[in-house]
Amino acid sequence: MLYPLAKRLLFQMDAEQAHTFTLKALNRAAHCGLVQPGKARIVLPRTVMGLNFPNPLGIAAGMDKNAEYLDGLGALGVGFVEAGTVTPRPQPGNPRPRVFRLPEVEGVINRLGFNNDGVDHFLQQVSRTHYRGILGINIGKNFDTPMENAVDDYVNAMRRVYPHAHYVTVNISSPNTRNLRELQGSDELTRLLTAIKGAQRELADQSGRHVPIALKIAPDLEPAQIDAIAKLLIAHGMDGVIATNTTISRNTIAAHPLAHEGGGLSGAPLHDLSLAVVRRLAHALDGALPIIGVGGINSVAHAKAMLDAGASLIQLYTGLIYKGPGLIDEILQGLA
Ligand SMILES: Cc1cc2nc3c(=O)[nH]c(=O)nc-3n(C[C@H](O)[C@H](O)[C@H](O)COP(=O)(O)O)c2cc1C
Repeated sequence: MLYPLAKRLLFQMDAEQAHTFTLKALNRAAHCGLVQPGKARIVLPRTVMGLNFPNPLGIAAGMDKNAEYLDGLGALGVGFVEAGTVTPRPQPGNPRPRVFRLPEVEGVINRLGFNNDGVDHFLQQVSRTHYRGILGINIGKNFDTPMENAVDDYVNAMRRVYPHAHYVTVNISSPNTRNLRELQGSDELTRLLTAIKGAQRELADQSGRHVPIALKIAPDLEPAQIDAIAKLLIAHGMDGVIATNTTISRNTIAAHPLAHEGGGLSGAPLHDLSLAVVRRLAHALDGALPIIGVGGINSVAHAKAMLDAGASLIQLYTGLIYKGPGLIDEILQGLA
């Protein structure tokens, strides 16, 4: 209701400033009792990866990289929040400007580059939150860790976040960390998944708690690559897969004046691509593990399409920038 007005003001600010401003305001509203933290709406509840989700709609990674706004985000009624990407050590990310709105097509291009305050700060924030809903923690590698040591970054980050997460996401699909997406190749992925699953077994034995692990993949994969990844996910007994991250393709926005900006494209122009990846994955996985579908969801129809394509859960990011928090209610009502 109020969002069109707020949006007009927010869109006059730099995209990153508007983001911080909005999330701070949301947290403040939660802390003042204007909205209730962790008040998830119960709509189509389901058990996925062994976790009980009050509804299938979550906040995608990147919205709250440092787990600083969980109270505010938890108050929006979503079924889960995925925080991060967090890397073992703090890092500044790429030079600004690095987030660009494309309002004509309801898209965003970002090349943030995993800007975050590191896992120590992240866990401090998690320890302070009042949010008690399902928390996914999305982990990545530091930009200056050599690719041959990438696995160590993931395993180290996982050991740290494991006791605090309901599920962990291994993000190997951001286009903004050099060579990261090479980890989606069969040899690299085999090495990574072997290490990750080994650490998970060890941590589960120690703690008596199995924390599921999902892999987050890119939309820029050939069908044969999707099939190969699906086979590895099954072979390694992965708990879930998130599809998709942002795209490096500009096919759907070729004529846009910002199409040349480097980074990952999200929002409406990504939707068909993400949907196609989810559909292919669902076919290749044949129910062996659940899919979390994300990419350009900005309506009830898109949410339903993603679930129909084979996703058990769905996530939002860019749609919230253009439609505001009312999109969450709209989708949950539409699914009910
Ligand atoms: C500004 C911005 C930052 C993002 N940061 C991350 C991130 O840190 N880790 C991650 O896995 N995905 C990140 N993403 C990708 C989203 O989680 C999501 O996969 C993608 O944007 C597609 O969904 P959407 O079209 O609903 O935005 C980011 C997206 C945006 C727009």
